[in-house]
Amino acid sequence: MLLLDREKYWMTGKDASLPFPVKRIVLAPSGRVERAFVRCACSESMAAIRNPMTKNYLEAAVEIAQEAGKVLVEELSRPLDIRYKGDEVDLVTQADKRSERLIVERLTKYFPDHAIAAEEGTGHESASASDFRWHVDPLDGTTNFAHGYPCFSVSIALAQRDTLLAAAVFNPFYNELFAAARGEGATFNGKKIHVSKVTTLSTSLLCTGFPVRNRKASPNLQYYGDFTQHSHGVRRDGSAALDLASVAAGRFDGFWEFGLQKWDTAAGLLLIEEAGGKVSDFAGNPYRLGGPVILATNGLIHEEMRAMAQEISRRAKAGS
Ligand code: IPD
Ligand code: CA
Ligand code: CA
Repeated sequence: MLLLDREKYWMTGKDASLPFPVKRIVLAPSGRVERAFVRCACSESMAAIRNPMTKNYLEAAVEIAQEAGKVLVEELSRPLDIRYKGDEVDLVTQADKRSERLIVERLTKYFPDHAIAAEEGTGHESASASDFRWHVDPLDGTTNFAHGYPCFSVSIALAQRDTLLAAAVFNPFYNELFAAARGEGATFNGKKIHVSKVTTLSTSLLCTGFPVRNRKASPNLQYYGDFTQHSHGVRRDGSAALDLASVAAGRFDGFWEFGLQKWDTAAGLLLIEEAGGKVSDFAGNPYRLGGPVILATNGLIHEEMRAMAQEISRRAKAGS
């Protein structure tokens, strides 16, 4: 397989997903491919050339998420080896580790210059101070997985500095793939998706999550109660990446959670932006990866949810 990565151009060749034939290849003294000239006649190929990177980064994210998903399904039927990170309910299993190993190995092979931030700590900073960073959650929803509740996913996203370029969230049990590339929209199993059209909080279905560390310090029970009283209901599904993907697909109208990590939200954030939704913090500022709280909605109920969250915060402060 031919693989190019000069941060300006990326493509795979021959038996893989090359969109157009290679005419001439220039090799560097090291033997690595320096440049490849391609032949393209049709307008579709021209479009791919204009924006070749994002498309192919997405293909890589999808391929790797699906491969890692196979590992998770395989592990689901094997005896569990649960360990605890710390003294709370922060679980890690053999499946988290095997999935991460596959993802990191594959990303490193395809994009040796890119940095990888992966939850279980086996990623690496880039050797060449590259602007590109992959955010990887090899198993989002470990608690669900450990109990055989099939709501878990692989979440992979690529950012160039602060700009997310490509995202894949894959639930291998149900074979559900959510994918997005910047400027190209978001898809569910290959079909374009859009956020819901629900316009009021009182008729919305919401989702949230609770941390696995410092559980007592989390203020979320108050928010959970109040939002439950003012909507059709609040679900707690246990995989933040899937929760965000579900907002993108219009299954949920809104989601919030405190204390999520970059690998939990990176892919879901791009999915929602590309599906026409809105993501911010409770103050209405744009959400930054790893920020203390995320509010993600279909856009239409954003202001109502945000105002209620602010009101709950005010009450909580006044009561404390
Ligand atoms: C957890 C899940 C869960 C969320 C927790 C996360 P993990 O991730 O996303 O939905 O509520 O805050 O830590 O530990 O299963 O990868
Ligand atoms: Ca995880
Ligand atoms: Ca996670």
